[in-house]
Amino acid sequence: MLSVRFSQGITMSVDALAKISDRYQTAVFFHLEAAALFRLLAMPGYAVLHEYQAIDESDTARRLKAFTIGHCQAVKPDMPPEESNLIEPLTGGKRGGFDVMEAVKEAWIAYEKWESDTLALYSKIALDLLDSGDVAAYEFVSCIVKDVSSELAGVRDTITALDGIGWDLPTIAQEQKELAELYEGKIKKLHKEYKNYHHHNSRGGNAE
Ligand SMILES: [Fe+2]
Repeated sequence: MLSVRFSQGITMSVDALAKISDRYQTAVFFHLEAAALFRLLAMPGYAVLHEYQAIDESDTARRLKAFTIGHCQAVKPDMPPEESNLIEPLTGGKRGGFDVMEAVKEAWIAYEKWESDTLALYSKIALDLLDSGDVAAYEFVSCIVKDVSSELAGVRDTITALDGIGWDLPTIAQEQKELAELYEGKIKKLHKEYKNYHHHNSRGGNAE
């Protein structure tokens, strides 16, 4: 009986972790789309910010798979990512002549909605895992929840600040170079950490 209960619990965990993995596949697409949109809008700082998130989240997706396999000795194939196109709805498919300020604003609002929906989904899955008694998977997902929560807090702070300046395009354009440098530095750091992981396995196991 114990082994039956154990295997049912593991199946639930594999399914729950697969739901997070699927969401991560779409998240990577979402961030790449947002990066492309901000490049189109000539906002390189925001573009590199989303490129950094795409790289960081694809790294977390990889560690999530490794955790699932190590913990459950099983993994489900990924579902194809959901539609995550940002560019068409915000630019109406036009190459120019659209309202740049409105597109910047809508892209930040779409970002806030994406992360807030993601946080709700991951938090629910974390609680389901805890209810099922899989504390190790709960702890792994809790780290992911913390990541999303701090990403969302950053997005909300930015929206508040941009609201404060009335989404003034010249001011926004002025800070792009500094932001691009900041996020380029973060991308370089991530790549260096990945190399360390590869050689020393120093980041295995958790989702920090
Ligand atoms: Fe994200």
